Amino acid sequence: MARMTTGRVPLIAGNWKLNLDHLQAIAFVQKLAWSLKDARLDFDEVEVAVFPPYTDLRSVQTLIAADKLPLKFGAQNLSEHDSGAYTGEISGAFLKALDCDFVLVGHSERRMLNGEGDDDVAAKTAAAIRHGLVPVICVGESAEDLEKHGQSAVPVAQLKAALAGITGAVDIVVAYEPVWAIGSGQAATPEQAEQVAGQLRQVIADAVGQDTADSTRILYGGSVKSGNIAGFMRQPNVDGALVGGASLDIAEFSKIIRFQNHVGV
Ligand code: 13P
Repeated sequence: MARMTTGRVPLIAGNWKLNLDHLQAIAFVQKLAWSLKDARLDFDEVEVAVFPPYTDLRSVQTLIAADKLPLKFGAQNLSEHDSGAYTGEISGAFLKALDCDFVLVGHSERRMLNGEGDDDVAAKTAAAIRHGLVPVICVGESAEDLEKHGQSAVPVAQLKAALAGITGAVDIVVAYEPVWAIGSGQAATPEQAEQVAGQLRQVIADAVGQDTADSTRILYGGSVKSGNIAGFMRQPNVDGALVGGASLDIAEFSKIIRFQNHVGV
């Protein structure tokens, strides 16, 4: 459903991180699809996407295509380069050839553990767009940033940097994931998420125009569970969730996807 007020279809995305091999991925995606079908989920009202490890993507692609499952999928990272002497890297062209819809860019774990900076994130965002993939641009402040600069300064600066080389209308998703909320059990409040999401939407408007700002889904991520998803989804600028740990539990992820049952709207 395009939500009446915004026209944006909510997106619930599961970032598997370094979990589930390709055999486990096949079983998982099959069960998830059955669970959502059993619950009579209307896939016009919510888009569902999974982000498995690279080595699972071919299996997930084949299963989704063969069984015509109404699920989308993407990779967790891509190279800024298209081809060449870059051992261990994966090109956006390869991901597109596997029918990936999305690719995560700039997840805080990659920023922290793999030293990815704003320039890398901008180059990867451009690479995704160049290959017809929708980048899910992840931004968020650490606990230290929060204390020093407040909540929105760092995510706003990160998004400006990611969009620096982009002009004109683009198909992107933005995920606001406060680092202190990831895997901590301590989610942001819906009001905090809304406040930052509103500012991120303004960054998009300033960088690439109001039309893209109006159509871009802005997700919240960080300790999302079935018990707190409704609060986030009631916010006008929050259009979905990027879920880590809870996306690996089929019953729990399926409840998060069916947030409309408990949103009370
Ligand atoms: P958790 O949902 O486990 O807090 O992880 C969030 C996240 O990093 C999704 O990308």
